[in-house]
Amino acid sequence: MKRLCGLIAVAAFVAVGCNKAPESAAPAAAAFTPTPHGTLLQVMRGIPFPASNIIFDIQSNDPGKPPAEKKGDTSGNATQQYGAIAAYAGWNAVENAAVAIQETANLIMIPGRKCGNGQPVPNDQEDFKKWASELASVAGEVQKFAAAKTYNEDTALDLSGKLSDACLNCHMKYRETPKQPDDRCMVGAAPAAAK
Ligand code: HEC
Repeated sequence: MKRLCGLIAVAAFVAVGCNKAPESAAPAAAAFTPTPHGTLLQVMRGIPFPASNIIFDIQSNDPGKPPAEKKGDTSGNATQQYGAIAAYAGWNAVENAAVAIQETANLIMIPGRKCGNGQPVPNDQEDFKKWASELASVAGEVQKFAAAKTYNEDTALDLSGKLSDACLNCHMKYRETPKQPDDRCMVGAAPAAAK
């Protein structure tokens, strides 16, 4: 049923769907504090993993070229089917993925989040902050490249490499720890810190 709702939304191109009753009068503005809702592991798997794969694809695919899909092809998941709409496809998909990664840098800095093993996310550490900031900055470069909508394979390879390094720098210290997964996110767990 959820899938059907997605398809209806595609067909009618409306942002709301599924016959939800309209919200009643807006409640009075309340103070809002950004709050973590999942572990770092879930955030990583849910946001930068799929977003970075969209970006890594540009190494071998020009996002400006029309997809090879057949007309009327209804296979693929709901996200893939949204690819028929320009705002979700091609260069826009790459740009949106680059934004998702920049926003990931914000999300992983929210205080109070835990890693999958229950350790606090080490976002009070200077190196973690630096790597989060570098992640946002490289993804910002990808966003500019995508916004220009001009394919250049060398730039695509270069940006993909820089993005992969931005992930790796932090992973080498806080993810690729010796006693998986118990010592992930622990300061001093990794034998050698990345640059
Ligand atoms: C500032 C640090 C940092 C950056 C930058 C970072 N990660 Fe992570 N990532 C982590 C940590 C720490 C973990 C382990 C989380 C846990 O176990 O809770 C992790 C875990 C992951 C996992 C889950 C691995 C598993 O065990 O299943 C994926 C996937 C992932 N990261 C993808 C990425 C990608 C892709 C990027 C870059 C686009 C990235 N991360 C950038 C810190 C980072």
